[in-house]
Amino acid sequence: MRLDEKFHLRIPGPTPVPPRVQHAMNRPMIGHRSAECSRLVLDGSRRLRKVFGTREDILIITGSGTSALEAAVSNAVAPEEEVAVVVTGAFGDRFAQIADRFGARVHRLDIPWGEACSPDRLSRFLADRPQVKAVFLTHCETSTGVLNPIRDLASVIRDRTDALIIVDGVSSLGGVPCAMDEWGIDILVTGSQKALMLPPGMAFVAVSSRAWEVIRQTEGPRFYLDLRTYREQLQKETTPYTPGIAHLFGLEAVLDMIEEEGLENIFARHRLLMEMTRAGIRALELPLLTEDAVASPTVTAVRGGDDLDVSALQQELHRLGVIVASGQQYLKGKIFRIGHMGYCDPLDILTLLSATETALHRLGIPVQWGAAVGAAEEVWSRV
Ligand SMILES: Cc1ncc(COP(=O)(O)O)c(C=O)c1O
Repeated sequence: MRLDEKFHLRIPGPTPVPPRVQHAMNRPMIGHRSAECSRLVLDGSRRLRKVFGTREDILIITGSGTSALEAAVSNAVAPEEEVAVVVTGAFGDRFAQIADRFGARVHRLDIPWGEACSPDRLSRFLADRPQVKAVFLTHCETSTGVLNPIRDLASVIRDRTDALIIVDGVSSLGGVPCAMDEWGIDILVTGSQKALMLPPGMAFVAVSSRAWEVIRQTEGPRFYLDLRTYREQLQKETTPYTPGIAHLFGLEAVLDMIEEEGLENIFARHRLLMEMTRAGIRALELPLLTEDAVASPTVTAVRGGDDLDVSALQQELHRLGVIVASGQQYLKGKIFRIGHMGYCDPLDILTLLSATETALHRLGIPVQWGAAVGAAEEVWSRV
């Protein structure tokens, strides 16, 4: 038996929305210029600062994560300017594509998918390109499950160049520590539907004072995503255009939940979920795409191989009510990805691993019953 409304969404975004957040989003609609809406915008903008690790206000854009990537590019880079983009997977590639589309001269540093960019590698790359005006990085590369060492990469960029440091934190913020001000990040962006436990459709951007200087002078077309307008309107306690008001209701509930659990506890929970997942997958003798040292606490990629058709496994899991994601671009059909961020706890991982054992068995692959679940429980028991 399978209940159609009961399934386990274990993809790396969108992630499950907590009932409390869903409930908050059902509030009756209000006007976007009302005092209540202003309160929600200001409150959300200020309380999100801790998640970003910044003293700057957080700008709220109604749009998906990519709108924030595009805002970062179109506001900070003028046509013909030289920029560097570190590409560790599909989302680094997206930054490069956006920069290219906006007429920037893009220097790509391509890292094999599944690996992180090391500070040494970036240092050597920038040694030949000290003139770049911005360097684009991806914190968690969702397509591979790699967590790039942003603090160390930012330090290399500061040493080698005067470039703005622009970071995609879409699948890391709220699940992984990120200290924008301390690490010297100039523009940090994220989306609503990952560790922030909201539905898709809202994006958040923080900008350093150094970046505001550049943005003020950057020429090039932009309208809906002109960050100067968002800043001016935030000073007037509002947004330039009608915001996703239901998302603002939900954001308030999310921030309550984050503050109640505490960021440090949230980060520890995500690390535990990652370790349980990896231990379980290893116990099934399935190869992980990433090394432990660069593995992201929010998403884990598992390789297929001669014995395992990952698409078939994904379908079998789906029949059992567990939804995982496939690989992107040339990793399609080669890996599957498990999201373990946001509203996710250890029992969710045990469910996923139990279903994986059953799915493998149904595919005719020998499994030792309970091996994955047991390995994950063992990790959990150490907490
Ligand atoms: C790291 C990263 N950047 C950007 C995006 C794009 O976000 P959206 O699909 O909301 O536009 C995603 C979405 O998966 C992501 O994981």
